[in-house]
Amino acid sequence: MFGATGTIGQATTRALLARGHEVVCIVRARAGFRGNLSVEELSRHLPGADLRVARVDDSASLVQDGLRGESFGAVVSCLASRTGAPADAWAIDHAAHLNVLSAAQAAGASHFVLLSALCVQKPRLAFQQAKLAFENALMNSGIAYSIVRPTAFFKSLSGQVARVKAGKPYLLFGNGRLTACKPISDRDLANYLAECLEDPARRNRILPVGGQGPALTPREQGEQIFALLGRPARFRQVPLGIIEFAIWALGCAGWLLPRFKDAAEFARIAHYYATESMLVWDEERQCPDAEATPSTGHDLLVDYHAALLAGPGAESRSDHSLF
Ligand SMILES: NC(=O)c1ccc[n+]([C@@H]2O[C@H](COP(=O)([O-])OP(=O)(O)OC[C@H]3O[C@@H](n4cnc5c(N)ncnc54)[C@H](OP(=O)(O)O)[C@@H]3O)[C@@H](O)[C@H]2O)c1
Repeated sequence: MFGATGTIGQATTRALLARGHEVVCIVRARAGFRGNLSVEELSRHLPGADLRVARVDDSASLVQDGLRGESFGAVVSCLASRTGAPADAWAIDHAAHLNVLSAAQAAGASHFVLLSALCVQKPRLAFQQAKLAFENALMNSGIAYSIVRPTAFFKSLSGQVARVKAGKPYLLFGNGRLTACKPISDRDLANYLAECLEDPARRNRILPVGGQGPALTPREQGEQIFALLGRPARFRQVPLGIIEFAIWALGCAGWLLPRFKDAAEFARIAHYYATESMLVWDEERQCPDAEATPSTGHDLLVDYHAALLAGPGAESRSDHSLF
């Protein structure tokens, strides 16, 4: 198991253990968001997993410290750049995954389950190109593969719960109906990834997947939060031109100071998610298609938001990621 310390990786490790698999997790000595988890803390989070410290960007470390000459039946990877910055995305989503693939094949693994992202169907960003390049390498490698491309995670749609709870309006780009997605919970996605090992129908396939319930626009997500609070919905519309100006300004600054290049990419990522639905893209009709986006699991975003509003969780979403 790779990426076992991330949001989906932890849930997937638990799902694999619950199904009776022996799970070896290759981890960093300091893991988690901003390296806040030691291996000891991790072993409390993932009881039953065999945690081994090794570097995914170093083939020798991966083989000697990680796989240790043992045989493995399958690889599950939720490894992903934590920032989406172009250099890190190519280093992790592509190059490190190539290391993992060749080490896995040498260790006898016959199946590779990869967490990817639905947005790679319309690739415009560096991290999407890096993911696609590895998807292609995996499909051409000869190992059986299940490439899982989920829609938006609950954590990425919950960044405004705390501000709405505090009485502020819900922020929308445009009218809030520009995009839609079928939000998926960590647990439902983790079960789906784990089931890929058991279900022959999920072999050698690219698998777009969303959660339960209808596709939701950002406006509908906001309305749900206000309904849970028993307050009338209040929105503030933010013009898309603001992000477009930021992309232009940071792009210009990036010519002079390289550190602004990543900031420009983050603005491009924000613009992408403000304008693209996380639903299967219908090439013929040139539009997103909620009906064609399969659903899995049981969890609903509205229940997740209810739980956040009821507890201290609403204030602790510091690790929610943009992509
Ligand atoms: N957010 C969404 O709505 C959404 C929707 C669809 C698809 N996705 C995709 O899902 C993935 C993100 O999943 P997530 O939220 O579970 O990720 P995450 O919490 O950011 O976890 C990333 C994992 O990769 C590991 N990793 C990153 N850089 C590493 C490095 N240099 N060396 C070793 N390990 C490294 C992390 O290890 P450490 O703990 O050591 O950092 C962690 O285990 C991305 O591929 C994203 O495109 C996201």
